[in-house]
Amino acid sequence: MDILGVDIGGSGIKGAIVDTITGELKSERIRIQTPQPATPEAVAKTLKELVDQIGYKGPVGCGFPARIINGEVLTAANIDSSWINIKVEELFSKTLNTDVFVANDADVAGLAELSFGAVKDYKGPVLFLTIGTGIGSALFINGQMYPNTEFGHLKFKGDIAEHYCADSVREKEDLSFKEWGERLNKFLEYISFLTQPDFIVLGGGVSKKFDKYESKLTLKTKVVPAKTLNLAGIIGAACYAKTKLEK
Ligand code: BGC
Repeated sequence: MDILGVDIGGSGIKGAIVDTITGELKSERIRIQTPQPATPEAVAKTLKELVDQIGYKGPVGCGFPARIINGEVLTAANIDSSWINIKVEELFSKTLNTDVFVANDADVAGLAELSFGAVKDYKGPVLFLTIGTGIGSALFINGQMYPNTEFGHLKFKGDIAEHYCADSVREKEDLSFKEWGERLNKFLEYISFLTQPDFIVLGGGVSKKFDKYESKLTLKTKVVPAKTLNLAGIIGAACYAKTKLEK
């Protein structure tokens, strides 16, 4: 089944039609800059622009950087605060005049890795992290998602974890990959202790630079870079819609 997957982020809204059986893209990947301020109405309008550009009609899956429960946005860490309590599935479905299924961006990206990537079809406990402006997390066991974990917001080193070791912090504090890798290692040790996964899969932009900090990841749990790289959000969003349509 071909479904449009959309990854809504703080700086870009990206989408493509995905073959949910193979994980391959069936259209060009389109990226439109996230409008500023990224209010619900402005983002919905940009989403429509993206769908029109692709020329797609049909159900849509969306990854969104917040806790989403029953189609409603509950948190707004790196997005406009006006999103809180917005029924995002309803808003997008009305705007696009089709069914839109929305879940946390890290949860859907993790789904892509489980379906096609580094932990394909793995049944044991897996922790997926997406590291960019913030840190997103996704937990799976038996191929099932335990959604909205938000481990990037755990208290850590006197702040919250994503303020200590997100990729944006590496850039802002001008840390080398080795220095940043040491921080990441401490955080991974901590969540590994809490969740006891067999694997940690690292996604987001830093997954491409894995060799630059791998030597600093000395924790016992095996850590692997994501295979679907920066397409995880799009592919996973389409897969998420598929799981909802099949229910
Ligand atoms: C948000 C998460 C999101 C992560 C990655 C965090 O700031 O709270 O919901 O998954 O960033 O985008």
